[in-house]
Amino acid sequence: MNIHSLDKQTSFVAGSLFSGGGLGDVGIEWGAGVPVLGTCELVSSRAALLRKNFPETKVFEGDIWKTMDQYISFFQKKLNLKSPWLLTLSPPCQGMSSNGAGRISSSIRKGNRPREDQRNRLILPGIDILESLKPDWFVLENVRRMENTIIRNEHGKVENILDCLCRRLHPLGYSIRANMMNFQGFGVPHHRERLITIGCRIPEIVSTYQPVEVIYSKETSPFHASFSHGGLGQPPLITLRDAIGHLPILDAQNKLVDPEDPYHCIPKWNDNQYFWMRSTPEGQTAYDNDQCVKCGKASSDSSQIECACGFPLPRPQIFKSGKLRLIHGFRSSYRRMWWDKPAGTLTMNSGVISSDLKCHPEQNRVLSLREIIILSTLQHPKWKNNYSFEGIPYGRMESGENFSKKLIREVIGESIPPLAMAQIVERLLEVDPRI
Ligand SMILES: C[S@@+](CC[C@H](N)C(=O)[O-])C[C@H]1O[C@@H](n2cnc3c(N)ncnc32)[C@H](O)[C@@H]1O
Repeated sequence: MNIHSLDKQTSFVAGSLFSGGGLGDVGIEWGAGVPVLGTCELVSSRAALLRKNFPETKVFEGDIWKTMDQYISFFQKKLNLKSPWLLTLSPPCQGMSSNGAGRISSSIRKGNRPREDQRNRLILPGIDILESLKPDWFVLENVRRMENTIIRNEHGKVENILDCLCRRLHPLGYSIRANMMNFQGFGVPHHRERLITIGCRIPEIVSTYQPVEVIYSKETSPFHASFSHGGLGQPPLITLRDAIGHLPILDAQNKLVDPEDPYHCIPKWNDNQYFWMRSTPEGQTAYDNDQCVKCGKASSDSSQIECACGFPLPRPQIFKSGKLRLIHGFRSSYRRMWWDKPAGTLTMNSGVISSDLKCHPEQNRVLSLREIIILSTLQHPKWKNNYSFEGIPYGRMESGENFSKKLIREVIGESIPPLAMAQIVERLLEVDPRI
């Protein structure tokens, strides 16, 4: 990589905003080889993870609305007013939704403070930072819904997030493109779909790929990496069997941890959860369990909780208001994954069986911490370092435990897989004519 040919205005460093535990930064620094100079994160346990795993990186802990000025001046000072080569942003996505526009507009018209999710507006300080630091490239990662999310912009007016981004960044010379990407196409062994928006202000590139009005396209943009797995003539997707099939057997009642590996551990299930899931075949949900385990008869009524013989069917059920009834739930819950497909999306609830697609394909349990660490690609032969969760307290921890199970599940659930981030950034290195 010849970074010496970068022009005098740019320094070959990156910064991240909404950095979480820095899993995306693993891909940028350990994978693509771009040093991450500064990060920013609200939650202190995540900021502690950043400090632990990136000792050279400055961590701005706190609300970005409050830390943004320090973040900007830190970069300006460190880089002698040059621009960083890359900034990445992954604002929280829990609040994203497409149907708030009418409601937000009408509250503003009535002079009321609109009921809106403030998290969606976090893109605004993100754009302020982009405007001030003017990185050569930026990468914005978010959920699919962001494409249609409406916010109250800096003038109090209702605007689509992507339109807001273009309105403010096109005048600074950025050309911006957005693609939906499922990271399993990058060899990540789980399903994870995200909207990746990339902006560039390198004149040679912008003159070839000029700013467009509609930045989202289903066609792979020139800024986006193409998938390296799963297509015609490409290696197949990495399945659950490929990734974790070799790990020792665990059981949600009888073997909660592998004595050789404290990270290969799972939460305990109660007798009911165990009964429902034990009877559930690979890829299926317990809601479809129609056969009585006592008399073997199948029930044709999907709302039934009990067999004609009086024995309970192995379907999720609860005793409420004096009687047993089916637990309300999506058909994706209490469901097993498939051995020969990538895992389901890893979420903050990867340890909760009632959440979407969380059961091991064969064993009676959810995925262990070791398994989600592997599936997230945080543990991968490509990285020169080992990422560590140790020594950072968070949530309820048992005495003697030196890592927080909750922290691991949450940080991984909110992350961009480092292997995907590495490929996204490697593509930018490939496209940049100066490198
Ligand atoms: C989607 S996660 C980012 C994950 C990260 N890209 C990774 O790969 O690990 C968004 C992060 O933004 C943080 N965040 C939320 N509100 C914030 C705020 N007001 N200021 C700074 N960070 C915030 C959250 O705590 C969360 O860790």
